[in-house]
Amino acid sequence: MRSHYCGDLREEHIGQEITLAGWVHRRRDHGGVIFLDLRDREGLTQVVFDPDREESFALADSCRNEFVVEVKGLVRARPEGTTNSDMPTGAIEVLGKELIILNKAETPPFQLDEHQQVGEDVRLRHRYVDLRRPEIQEKLRFRSKVTHQVRAYLEDQGFLDIETPILTRATPEGARDYLVPSRTHEGSFFALPQSPQLFKQLLMVSGFDRYYQIAKCFRDEDLRADRQPEFTQIDIETSFLDEHEVMAITENMIRGLFKDQLNIDLGDFPHMPYSEAMLRFGSDKPDLRIPMELVDVADLVASVDFKVFAGPATDPKGRVAALKVPGGSELTRKQIDEYTKYVSIYGAKGLAWIKVNDLAAGAEGLQSPIVKFLGAEIALQIMERLEAKDGDLVFFGADKANIVNEALGALRIKVGEDLNMLEREWAPLWVVDFPMFEENSDGSMTALHHPFTAPSCSPEELIAQPEGKLSRAYDMVLNGCELGGGSVRIHDQEMQKAVFKVLGISDEEADEKFGFLLNALKFGAPPHAGLAFGLDRLIMLMTGSTSIREVIAFPKTQSAACPMTEAPGEVSAAQLRDLNIKLRKTP
Ligand code: AMO
Ligand code: AMP
Repeated sequence: MRSHYCGDLREEHIGQEITLAGWVHRRRDHGGVIFLDLRDREGLTQVVFDPDREESFALADSCRNEFVVEVKGLVRARPEGTTNSDMPTGAIEVLGKELIILNKAETPPFQLDEHQQVGEDVRLRHRYVDLRRPEIQEKLRFRSKVTHQVRAYLEDQGFLDIETPILTRATPEGARDYLVPSRTHEGSFFALPQSPQLFKQLLMVSGFDRYYQIAKCFRDEDLRADRQPEFTQIDIETSFLDEHEVMAITENMIRGLFKDQLNIDLGDFPHMPYSEAMLRFGSDKPDLRIPMELVDVADLVASVDFKVFAGPATDPKGRVAALKVPGGSELTRKQIDEYTKYVSIYGAKGLAWIKVNDLAAGAEGLQSPIVKFLGAEIALQIMERLEAKDGDLVFFGADKANIVNEALGALRIKVGEDLNMLEREWAPLWVVDFPMFEENSDGSMTALHHPFTAPSCSPEELIAQPEGKLSRAYDMVLNGCELGGGSVRIHDQEMQKAVFKVLGISDEEADEKFGFLLNALKFGAPPHAGLAFGLDRLIMLMTGSTSIREVIAFPKTQSAACPMTEAPGEVSAAQLRDLNIKLRKTP
């Protein structure tokens, strides 16, 4: 139907008879001449209809926004003074000769350039219209280019693209499962994979050596801007490579993507142990663009009268840390109150602060609700440790270490963004040496990565004292976002059993849930390691989007629903009967 895309026409096409097909983006009536801005995936072209071609003129006049039309016409230069240098096709226009209306359209639920005036749920309900917006088209096209390059890179490195099942059993990645009832096995359920983790390990046992898949994963968890219930991983597994080799291959892939797609050189990614990240940034995914760090002051405040500080300072699980905000003394009381409210989301019971007005005046020059509790000497020692200067503001957190880390870690990001402190545009790093386990409040243990991650000690050492043991896991972090994570896996049955034991998973339970993996480990499992990137997050960062919903064609809402298809939906009584399911009436 078409000879050219609308957006591809340039001065070199002047004089050519062409055929376009697309949507009427806008129709304008300019005193006897009709202009149709015709849009397709490549862009816009202005088409002019003169009254002397009566039939096509009348048809053009009857067109409305979003009508689908085919136009035959002549490319010509725009008249002097009417060229538009903001448009790639702005030097030319098409003199319309024939017009066919291929399909009419009702008035769309919103005009494409007025999308901001309607709520996101209206846009998601009519996502097919929303997806016509050039910004979204550009993002999805970018996504396609990235997956193309990812495939090319990995294939080139000897990786094989192998599909793994969607109807499967639970994979423990820490979220709830989406379950699918089985019709043929009454009372039994499939789980949708939270990741292809177990299958990719089995592929290594089978000798495929290098696997990748652009894989859909499903997790029923609380949603945020960077989380969807259904999302995509660039999933990778390798045999006979250690963590350094896996990190090198995948870092090179990400560096190549940024270079080729955005012309950005990310350089070599620094490696930072988890413990250092928590100490300096209160986070296992530190945003290194922000030049502020947490500084411990527990030793200085351990014996002050101020219990709020002295308590956590002397508690082995406590932490007292300071965050110096350069130039922050300009913050108003109201702003400080707002930050206090902000950290309370993370469980902080307060947010003590000191404004450094005039250091030369000693403690007199410090403005703060707590200096009187700390005493002049301690307050000044703290200022010295922080290398505080006049005009700075210091925030304090005192509580259990995890609360202080979360609260001050989040505050660091918030203040850094509010005060425009970002020092550079891109800050990638690897976080390494994660603890193997995390202790729950009831004293039980959870795997920090997943239970197939290899510890960096022997099974005996692990069982003797699991607390504090490190794992061979690694996360790639970019601008404070966890882009990907992986680990060297356990390939030895004894070690896998030891980990299940620490996690309180009995032999029977392990056998019931992961018997197939434990069996596979008996039949010649090679040492293997891998990693998975969140593709949606990667595209979100690369396109400067604020949510992964902007880079997914058909995303779900915050409540994990699709307003367009109205999924999840009710099913018929007959379907339920087939599945042997009886719904309980909720009162
Ligand atoms: P993990 O659970 O860390 O590891 O997931 C890997 C990456 O997937 C992305 N991601 C998500 N993206 C969008 N929405 C979500 N709900 C979501 N959850 C995770 C993140 C994350 O870094 N099997 C292991 C990987 C391995 O060990 O090889 C795994 O799934 O960017
Ligand atoms: P109070 O004695 O409760 O009035 O607290 C004095 C100051 O310490 C106030 O600025 C509080 O916001 C702050 N504060 C209270 N609890 C904490 C805490 N756990 N961590 C940091 N600051 C706190």
